[in-house]
Amino acid sequence: MDLLDAIRRRRTTNNKFAPDPVKPEHIRLLIEAASRSPSHFNSQPWRFVIVRDKDKLAALADLAGASMKELMEGEFFARYKRYFRFDDQEADGKRDGIYIDHMPAVLRPFIKQVFTPNIGKLLGTFGVSKMLGGNQAEIVRESPLILAVAMNKEEYKPGELAGLYSTISLGAVIQTFWLVTTSLNMGMQFISTPLEVPERKALIAEMLKIPPTFELVALFRMGYKAEDAKRNSIDWTSSQRKPFEELASVEEWGAAMPGDLAQAESILFPEKAPDARD
Ligand SMILES: Cc1cc2nc3c(=O)[nH]c(=O)nc-3n(C[C@H](O)[C@H](O)[C@H](O)COP(=O)(O)O)c2cc1C
Repeated sequence: MDLLDAIRRRRTTNNKFAPDPVKPEHIRLLIEAASRSPSHFNSQPWRFVIVRDKDKLAALADLAGASMKELMEGEFFARYKRYFRFDDQEADGKRDGIYIDHMPAVLRPFIKQVFTPNIGKLLGTFGVSKMLGGNQAEIVRESPLILAVAMNKEEYKPGELAGLYSTISLGAVIQTFWLVTTSLNMGMQFISTPLEVPERKALIAEMLKIPPTFELVALFRMGYKAEDAKRNSIDWTSSQRKPFEELASVEEWGAAMPGDLAQAESILFPEKAPDARD
């Protein structure tokens, strides 16, 4: 696949993958491609643990599901409310965040309450947190592969410049994984929830035998895309993007976009505006 095509097609895969195991040569390609990513002073501050064992996947699934349920019943919405969109108008207006565009009709009337202080309790009462936790566990359990990313603590020091540089390097390596999976007709999804609960993060690090000199920083599900994958009962999309003129300015911050750039053709999306929602 051509690079621009992979960039165009890359997106988070929220739903199930095909059950096929990831081919060893594809795993090798992913790691070798990742190793070509840039890092400060070529420090390569990352290490990866590939999880394929069914029992380990099941244990990770239980931890991910329980974390999702717990977070939903707790501070999750309060912590992240600025990222949630619930209707077309809001999603198209702000052009960022995640748009919850798919949910059972019975939940629609409760949307307005999602940011009230007792939403966690309400989600528990109506079984929503259980549904989301169950769904999270199911998609993790049925993933052919989980990739854990660990960062070298000698580099990854929050507050120090090396810490910032290693975080930038992490972004580069993750994007490499994302583009290569896309080019292999695979999908990829970040699974942050179990790492947001310190005890569960510690259990996962222990299960994967990550040494104390490394910090577990990210988990991803990976697998081949399923042709007929159904959407999750509560699901989101996030294809909106800020427009060109808002993202960048020329010569100085906030300056109007010069005509030659404003009128330049879009090579990435020749058919539609790059920020259009699909
Ligand atoms: C640091 C980071 C954490 C993320 N955590 C999650 C997550 O826990 N679950 C998830 O489904 N996506 C997660 N994502 C994916 C983003 O939600 C997604 O990239 C964004 O909404 C844009 O959507 P797209 O990837 O489909 O283009 C994460 C991405 C990043 C960079």
